[in-house]
Amino acid sequence: MSVADRLEGKRVCICAGSGGVGKTTTSAAIAMGLAAEGKRVAVVTIDPARRLADALGIAELESEPHLVDPARFAGHGIEITGELWAMMLDSKATFDELIERLAPDEKTRDEILANRIYRELSSAVAGSQEFTAVAKLYELDRSGRFDVIVLDTPPSRNALDFLDAPDRLTGFLEGRALKLFLAPSGLAAKVVGRGTSVVFSVLRRVTGVDLMEDLSVFFRALGGVLDGFRERAAGVKALLADPATTFLIVTSPERDPVEEAIFFRGRLREAGMPFGGLVVNRVHPLGTDDEELDEAALAADLDGDEALARKVARTLDEFRVLAHRDAAAVERLRAELEDDDPILVPHLDGDVHDVDGLVAIHRHLFAPARVREALLDEAAF
Ligand SMILES: Nc1ncnc2c1ncn2[C@@H]1O[C@H](COP(=O)(O)OP(=O)(O)OP(=O)(O)O)[C@@H](O)[C@H]1O
Ligand SMILES: [Mg+2]
Repeated sequence: MSVADRLEGKRVCICAGSGGVGKTTTSAAIAMGLAAEGKRVAVVTIDPARRLADALGIAELESEPHLVDPARFAGHGIEITGELWAMMLDSKATFDELIERLAPDEKTRDEILANRIYRELSSAVAGSQEFTAVAKLYELDRSGRFDVIVLDTPPSRNALDFLDAPDRLTGFLEGRALKLFLAPSGLAAKVVGRGTSVVFSVLRRVTGVDLMEDLSVFFRALGGVLDGFRERAAGVKALLADPATTFLIVTSPERDPVEEAIFFRGRLREAGMPFGGLVVNRVHPLGTDDEELDEAALAADLDGDEALARKVARTLDEFRVLAHRDAAAVERLRAELEDDDPILVPHLDGDVHDVDGLVAIHRHLFAPARVREALLDEAAF
């Protein structure tokens, strides 16, 4: 089944996987392909390579998707009959927006956004990207503006961080420490009430920063958005488990990403989140023609250049070693992930950062199974 078949009827497609395997490239190629099928698609990319961002007309971090000019693809054999919207996630701005939306009134909103503690905290939370990515996904889905949203995931060492993000944030907000602080008779009341905490007053005198004031304002104001946050995190969790959501696991055939893909599949199963299929990227395909190279004949063809013939033979050998390794990895993935027909995308020569690169990846993702094999064979040595 092609990616298009696997995404039939899906509203959300999340490309997850280990660092550097091609999640961002795959997300962009999938979004482009769906838009070429007439769908209104938004792709949320995270830290795309500069040239890929250029290919999608993304100039900077954004908190809203922008419409990609279909003319970008026209000369490359892709006709966007739907709409392609793209954005490069700005975590900090997305987090601020969330506060704006959840704050009960303008005063609370301004207090939080201007608060020193919030600014530190939000940079830290936004820095992890996982939460803001799903928060953005949730909001775009709720807007109803798109048929499909494709979400790239952060380049975390551990793909699982992503699944836990909503829980971690509410866990923090609902945590004991915070509750103690927020309770009317809690620590905040006591400390603030006393108002003469030695440490804080010394700090204030030395630095001129009234940390206590910052803290108490922060916790009071945060109390006002806590319910909203909790609700939002519950909504996000529900969306991740929704039958109209699907996770594509992207991996390369290398050892560590393969292990992580297997582990991630298990976590999806445990969490009751929908698995849509496996994409194995950067595969060195085994050609159907696996015959020994006749080095002497090759040298003759190369005007007797034996050194060159030897080099070619060695390169071919190396490629075949990789191809066998990759085939074994794919077999293992197939069994462990229970996906009989994973989509294999070959390791392409040169850059896949530009529109042509996207189109090349897209061909493999969207081709029907029958054609896909022939395409892979083309990429084999
Ligand atoms: N099939 C391919 N053939 C050759 N190069 C590829 C292929 N797929 C991706 N690349 C290249 O590999 C690099 C990593 O790709 P990409 O940025 O999409 O990975 P990622 O999983 O999003 O990485 P990160 O985890 O850092 O976000 C890029 O330079 C990209 O151009
Ligand atoms: Mg990426």
